[in-house]
Amino acid sequence: MKILTSESLRELYLKFFESKGHKIIPSASLIPENDPTVLFTTAGMHPLVPYLLGEKHPAGTRLCDVQKCVRTGDIDEVGDSSHCTFFEMLGNWSLGDYFKNEMIPWSFEFLTSPDYLGIPVEDIAITCFAGDEDCPRDEESANKWIECGILPENIYFLPKSGNWWGPAGTTGPCGPDTEMHIIRNKEAAAKLNSDQFDDAPKGTFLEIWNDVFMQYNKNEEGKYEPLKQRNVDTGMGLERTLCILNGKASVYETDIFENAILKIEELTGKKYGENEEETKAFRVVLDHVRTATFMLGDVKGIVPSNTDQGYILRRIIRRAVRFGRNIGLPQGALNKVSKTFIEKYASVYPELVKNSAKIEEELNKEEDKFSKTLQQGIKEFEKVAERLAQGETIDGKTAFRLYDTYGFPVEITKEMAAEKNLLVDVEGYNAAYAEHQAKSRAGSEQKFACGLADHKEETTNLHTATHLLQAALKKVCSDEIQQKGSNITEERLRFDFNFARKLTPEEVAKVEAMINEVIKADIPVVMKEMTVAEAKEQGFTGLFESKYGEVVKTYSIGEFSKEICGGPHAESTGALGTFKIAKQENVSAGVKRIKAILIK
Ligand code: ALA
Repeated sequence: MKILTSESLRELYLKFFESKGHKIIPSASLIPENDPTVLFTTAGMHPLVPYLLGEKHPAGTRLCDVQKCVRTGDIDEVGDSSHCTFFEMLGNWSLGDYFKNEMIPWSFEFLTSPDYLGIPVEDIAITCFAGDEDCPRDEESANKWIECGILPENIYFLPKSGNWWGPAGTTGPCGPDTEMHIIRNKEAAAKLNSDQFDDAPKGTFLEIWNDVFMQYNKNEEGKYEPLKQRNVDTGMGLERTLCILNGKASVYETDIFENAILKIEELTGKKYGENEEETKAFRVVLDHVRTATFMLGDVKGIVPSNTDQGYILRRIIRRAVRFGRNIGLPQGALNKVSKTFIEKYASVYPELVKNSAKIEEELNKEEDKFSKTLQQGIKEFEKVAERLAQGETIDGKTAFRLYDTYGFPVEITKEMAAEKNLLVDVEGYNAAYAEHQAKSRAGSEQKFACGLADHKEETTNLHTATHLLQAALKKVCSDEIQQKGSNITEERLRFDFNFARKLTPEEVAKVEAMINEVIKADIPVVMKEMTVAEAKEQGFTGLFESKYGEVVKTYSIGEFSKEICGGPHAESTGALGTFKIAKQENVSAGVKRIKAILIK
């Protein structure tokens, strides 16, 4: 295997695909465009969805890039050898251009050629789709791999759960994938037959690359129909691949973190890797400071706040402060560690250099804010914990006090509690939080009583009304109704949905009455973050599903409406006024449009 640095791996990958006729495109922002269902860009394909669905890309049909990604599903796992919240994904795409016959030999060439990664053929294992009633076994890919030189005994087959990529459970483009793995334990691998890949002991295989062959569209009846445009979507994690190529035990030992580790060592007098607990703290600081640097430095730069992306940023900075203190990292150190990352990435992500003053200011500000209350908060937490026996639960009001007075995001309280074998009543915390919000709302309503409410408030209310409309249409007209489009101005909402005919006057009256009843009941609109799987299980509807266990925001209005959505929303329905359907229109044979207003 070739020893590579992060710089040379990026360059090699892009050069390879350029030589195969691809255009290099820049990384998109970490904040997704037009996709309110996820907070961050989670994969290279994410910004390319419109083009995978058939829209023309200005750079052509063969693209490659290095995409900045953030996955926040498992922040609490960061500190072990493999979890990172930020990572870079190397990827290439065929937009209705080449398919398996080109992609598999290219993957083989890039992995094995001495000019590229130079991985010995016998070290590579491949998984392919095992086939089911929707789609045949992917012998085509397996045969192609064997033709290239992969050993037949190193090819395994997995069902949809392992070798299928796309929006599971809903409609959209999808298809079988073939994944490439490095065999780390040959003895264990040799004992498995081709259907036993998942039975391998942990660490036997390390996934390095994924080629997705998008050839189906899952339609509304759940049938897989062939796509007109067959695409290829691939993804290779940069940090992971570097770690494997260089034979390192963890991604933190790659060149990416080298200078940051030296900086932390200099600031603390501790050595990375000397004991488990301190190593964990080093890694939390390394990962979280890097992620915060990229979030603050992004073209759509965000700042710490109490909602959405800003809350995730706040949470990771505060978690970095807490773990940093455990190894004696002094106040102001996060910014010094961040500077090593800005330098390291300067030529690849110039936006970090451009925004370095903002990164410094915001990191320092957030660190100062939390540092002021951290010690006292920890003392308060210790007092609470002392009163409880192992396995007992910290009540919601106390968890809210730790947040409100000492700035502890509830996830940090949960983590600290877990360290002492305690639980936290998160439901109770949410209730206390909602109660608090309701009180401040009363204040802001007084402020706006003279009609000074800004436009933001109007559109936010209309957005909440859109959720109510979708729920009411489902109840009054058909449970099959789904959103086909939505647009909100300051004056009205516009909602497109699948339905064969216009609503009758009776149906219109029923929908309006139902919504106005919910408004009158002043039901709180509750936001909760959860994984897509959890949201589905709890009956939330949504238009997009991710494979990654990515955390999405869900909004519920009692049991009346439950949707995956990016917000923003009114805090409770009482603020909305009177709902009225203003107009019905025909969009197409199966799609109708409603325009509706809120009267104050
Ligand atoms: N989109 C595919 C992945 O993220 C390549 O694995």
